[in-house]
Amino acid sequence: MENTYAIVLAAGQGTRMKSDLYKVLHPVCGKPMVEHVIDHIRDLQADRIVTIVGHGAEMVEQTLGDKSEYALQAEQLGTAHAVQQAEAVLADLDGTTLVVCGDTPLISTETMAALLAHHHETEAKATILTAIADDPTGYGRIIRAENGDVVRNVEHKDTNDGERLVKEINTGTYCFDNRVLFDTLKKVNNDNAQDEYYLPDVLGILKSEGQRISAYTTPDFHETLGVNDRVALAKAEKGMRQLIAEKHMRNGVTIISPEQTVISSEAEIGRDTIIQPGVLIEGATKIGSQCVIGPNSHIQNSTVGDHTTVHSSVVRDSAIGNETAVGPFAHLRPETQLGDHVKVGNFVEVKKSRLGDDSKVSHLSYIGDTEIGKNVNVGCGTITVNYDGKNKHKTEIEDYAFIGCNANLVAPVTIGKNAIVAAGSTVTKNVPENSLAIARVRQENKEGYVKN
Ligand code: UD1
Ligand code: CA
Repeated sequence: MENTYAIVLAAGQGTRMKSDLYKVLHPVCGKPMVEHVIDHIRDLQADRIVTIVGHGAEMVEQTLGDKSEYALQAEQLGTAHAVQQAEAVLADLDGTTLVVCGDTPLISTETMAALLAHHHETEAKATILTAIADDPTGYGRIIRAENGDVVRNVEHKDTNDGERLVKEINTGTYCFDNRVLFDTLKKVNNDNAQDEYYLPDVLGILKSEGQRISAYTTPDFHETLGVNDRVALAKAEKGMRQLIAEKHMRNGVTIISPEQTVISSEAEIGRDTIIQPGVLIEGATKIGSQCVIGPNSHIQNSTVGDHTTVHSSVVRDSAIGNETAVGPFAHLRPETQLGDHVKVGNFVEVKKSRLGDDSKVSHLSYIGDTEIGKNVNVGCGTITVNYDGKNKHKTEIEDYAFIGCNANLVAPVTIGKNAIVAAGSTVTKNVPENSLAIARVRQENKEGYVKN
């Protein structure tokens, strides 16, 4: 198999987005659109990937990191000029070069592979990925000869009345014989409505030189959507959301209302898990099998074991074990770890804390900077007093301890194994194991106090 290279065009400002954020960095299902493009190309196992950066170069490079190499297009003179910037990196290599725009986040690895396969089968020097659009406005139009051969592409702004009616569009994705590409780019001029060097002109030039060019028409126009403004961004979001949801449903996940569920493309979800409406799953979240993720839960960069339920809760940068119940209305803040058979109930906030297996914090508590052992019961309204105004301090609650309702545990403090803290206590000293701590004013009854 000969080498495959890829060039991703990502130097434009994206004026039509009317945004301070560079176009290709606008997220689709939580991930910058150019990163979707790069990830799809990486799945093809391309030998080299070069991203052309210009506007926001630093931010784009920071976002993509070492997923790509970079070439700078200091001035944006058009897509052909953009590709030319990869010359120093690629021009001397034999192989096939795929070019994809950074603003077409839905084009799948499968479609890119089909394009490459068609390119090789037809032994063309250049192959363009086309699609049939109901409304081709804004896209380049594919002009074919009477025998069906592709002749050239005409940009929307350069079309005449007849050409404007053509529904076959240029998706902005191509493959080229690498050496032929760089040789032909030199011949592209900017004699057009936008005074730009157009990449698709390479096809027309090759054709006029008698070289073989071809087109692969994908049946799925939705995949080829180019995001130039926020209206298209919302369409891309919807399309991506559906693709991701369908992948999980095919893998055995029940998604009650895919339209109202947002799942990142990195997320993994096990079989027979049920995702209820309004759920937002972000980042590299991993959810096990047979879980129920209840309405309006927001889970970010976290792992959830098997047979666990998370209802109407927020979970960030945390790990939840198996057969554990979270919520409704719980908030797990970063660095929280819950073991197996744990319960964190309503209006409980947990931060940077670990709860061992079979422990419960069922209602109205704040647990911060705390290590909780196994089989601990933390009563309703308990607060770990972790902050003295300057520093954070640790609380330790050892196995089988029982914390009565409405206790304040003033850190640093340790509650020993099997110890009991009486309800309403404000604990400021360590409690030894097997002891009872009562730290509250003794009740006094004044009989007959109320005179009738
Ligand atoms: C381009 C195609 C059009 C196609 C459409 C598909 C050209 C001339 N036109 O139009 O035929 O139907 O995509 O979505 O190629 N870019 C650079 N440097 C530049 C100019 C653009 O890096 O100098 C990048 C942009 O950041 C963007 C991509 O190239 O990611 C496409 O540019 P854009 O201006 O969006 O082209 P379209 O008008 O959409
Ligand atoms: Ca575009």
